[in-house]
Formats: sequence, C-alpha cells, structure tokens
Amino acid sequence: MFNFLKYFCINILLIVCVCAYDILLQSDSVAVSNGLNDGYKNINNIDFDDENYGLYHTSKHVFYWLYTRDNTDGQLLNRSEPHLIESTSFNASNPIKVIVHGWLGTTQEKEGLCMYNVNSYFKVGEYNVICVDWKQYSTDLSYSVARARAKHIAHDIAKILTRITYNMTKGVETLHLIGHSMGAHIVGFVGKELTDKIPRITGLDPAKPQYEKKGPADRLYITDAHFVDVMHTNSAKNGFTKSIGHIDFFPNGGKRQPDCGFSDRTTGSCSHVKSYHYYAHSIWAKEDYVALKCSSWDDYKAHKCDNANSTFMGEHVDIEQTEDFYLEACVDD
Ligand SMILES: *[C@@H]1O[C@H](CO)[C@@H](O)[C@H](O)[C@H]1NC(C)=O
Ligand SMILES: *[C@@H]1O[C@H](CO)[C@@H](O)[C@H](O)[C@H]1NC(C)=O
Ligand SMILES: *[C@@H]1O[C@H](CO)[C@@H](O)[C@H](O)[C@H]1NC(C)=O
Ligand SMILES: *[C@@H]1O[C@H](CO)[C@@H](O)[C@H](O)[C@H]1NC(C)=O
Repeated sequence: MFNFLKYFCINILLIVCVCAYDILLQSDSVAVSNGLNDGYKNINNIDFDDENYGLYHTSKHVFYWLYTRDNTDGQLLNRSEPHLIESTSFNASNPIKVIVHGWLGTTQEKEGLCMYNVNSYFKVGEYNVICVDWKQYSTDLSYSVARARAKHIAHDIAKILTRITYNMTKGVETLHLIGHSMGAHIVGFVGKELTDKIPRITGLDPAKPQYEKKGPADRLYITDAHFVDVMHTNSAKNGFTKSIGHIDFFPNGGKRQPDCGFSDRTTGSCSHVKSYHYYAHSIWAKEDYVALKCSSWDDYKAHKCDNANSTFMGEHVDIEQTEDFYLEACVDD
C-alpha cells in the first residue's frame, strides 16, 4: 500500500510538472506585468491601428527589411513611400520571397531564419528577399499574447505586400511566403486576406500549441495559397503533427531531429529550428533532400516506399506532388 502511494504521488508530481511546463509555454499565465498587460486585456476590442494605442501601432513596430544581391546588409523599407521600394534596390524582374519568424524569433541575427535563407538565396541567384521583423510583438510577451496578435501582424503584411506589388499587379506570380512556427500561421493569414493571389506558401514546422485543433480560419490551411508545402521537424513538441499542406515533409519521421542533444527532449527547440536549417540548405543543395511518398516513417524505414514517387524537400519541391513524404535528412553547413 505504501509503495503504491509513493508511486502514485511521484506520478502526480510528474504530471504536475509536465502540466506546469505546458502552461508556461502555452498560456497567458506568464502574461506580462508591465504596460503591455493593459493592451492585452483590450486586445479584442481595440483597433490595432488606432493611433491612440501607439504600442499596438503595427506601422511603428513591424519592420520590413529588403535584401538583394546588391545589398546583402538589408534596407529598411520606408512606409512613407507609396510602394515602399522606390528608394531601394528592389528589382521587379526577380522573385519575391517573404520570410516571417515565429514567437521569440528575430530577423537580423546572423544565426537566424532570415540570414540563413538570405545567404542561401544569393548563393544561387537574384531575389528580392523581404524579412518581416515583428519581434517587438513577439519577444517579452507570452506565447498566448503573441498568438492573439498574429492576425494583426498578418493584416499589416497583407497591406504592405499589396503596396509593394502595385495592388497585386506586379511580381505576384513569383510571390512566395515562408513562415516558421507561429510565422507559418501568420503567412497563412496573409494568404487568406489576399485570396487566391499567392502562388506558394511554405510552413516550416508550423506551431502546434493553440493551433493544432483550430479550424481553417485560425491556422495555416491548404487553401491559403495555390500551393502549400509544409515541413514537420518537431511534432513531438512544438510543431504540427497532422498534414496540412498540399504536400507535407517528415524529415527523420518529423517528431525530432538527430544531433539535437538531451535538452531537446524537453524543449524541442533544436528540432524546431532545424526546419529552417533544412530549408536554407535546400535552396542551394536540392539533391540532398530526396523524399519519397509514403504513409508512415515505419513504412519508409522498412523500404516499403522505395518505388514510390519522389520529390525534393524544400525550395525545389515538385508542385505536382501531393500528400506525405519522408526522408532522412541532415545539415552539415
Ligand atoms: C521616407 O520617405 C519619406 C517620403 O519620401 C521621406 O521624407 C523620408 O525622409 C524617408 N525616410 C527615410 C528614413 O529615408
Ligand atoms: C534586375 O535583375 C536582372 C536579373 O534578374 C538584371 O538583368 C537587371 O539588370 C536588373 N536590373 C537592375 C536595374 O539592376
Ligand atoms: C491601389 O488601390 C488603392 C485603393 O483601392 C488606390 O487608391 C490606389 O491608387 C491603387 N494603386 C495602384 C497603383 O493601382
Ligand atoms: C506520381 O507523380 C505524378 C506526377 O509526376 C502524378 O501524376 C501521380 O499521381 C503520382 N502518383 C502518386 C501515387 O502519387
């Protein structure tokens, strides 16, 4: 009896720990005790663009950085210019890539989502890469608060893209939005606003907490672009488990990534960011990521899919392919 009780208690303790951790990660219980609190309470009933709420004025807190081959340090787009690109090295003949980070993400770091991809794109060609920096809304705030703002950020991005593309008349055929984690849902919301205008959206390990059970309007959804490709690298913790794109890739099974160390078991953060390491790598090394159509990782490993359709994971995906694809993947750069 005593032993049973002990076992029981330890279990309860474990459950409490796990729950507390999840709450920390997912709920507003960590909500801020600074001035932002006030706005959080009002988040649903203020106009986000209301000048009186300077704190929530997207035009003052969401930044757009343009990178071109002539200007790899990036130029901050000027919202006072009608199309924002007049005084920049934007070149309308080249494809437009828009990159959006997730909760706690940053754009300018050398080791970040933006720079990884910027460096890869300019290894292979000429592009207009626009990195959206919404970190003033995404850092020092709880996950839930950031999530509550995701649609407002998306609304701002949609407005800016409309201006850059002259009301969706110039450069739209090359428009490709790429989002990591919560950023994957944000680019989905942009796609919903610019109905049927976006050729491609890529979701890199789309955030799971508070999104996985949501309907089409409240997460990245297959109809948000003509083609939606999704990469799953940490479905064990931070990333979506179910397939949500035209095509879904599950490198190394999709739950966790190799070489991520012990702490990744609890945080998942290493596996979660691997999605954009793979993506950046795929831009210049497409042959490294040959994926096979398969219904599970077990079947893939058992060679049951060796004769199935194949495609490249990442930038060079074949948009004729659909459903789930598996592969072994690593990055060594
Ligand atoms: C932004 O553009 C406006 C209007 O052209 C101009 O007056 C202003 O100086 C520009 N700001 C920067 C930082 O270049
Ligand atoms: C724009 O990019 C194309 C290559 O895609 C290049 O041929 C052209 O010279 C560029 N235009 C300018 C103004 O730099
Ligand atoms: C884009 O649409 C807005 C609002 O409908 C209009 O004021 C603006 O002149 C248009 N711009 C272009 C370049 O067509
Ligand atoms: C294999 O790919 C071709 C297009 O290349 C497609 O028509 C076909 O339906 C695919 N087969 C399966 C089983 O997905």
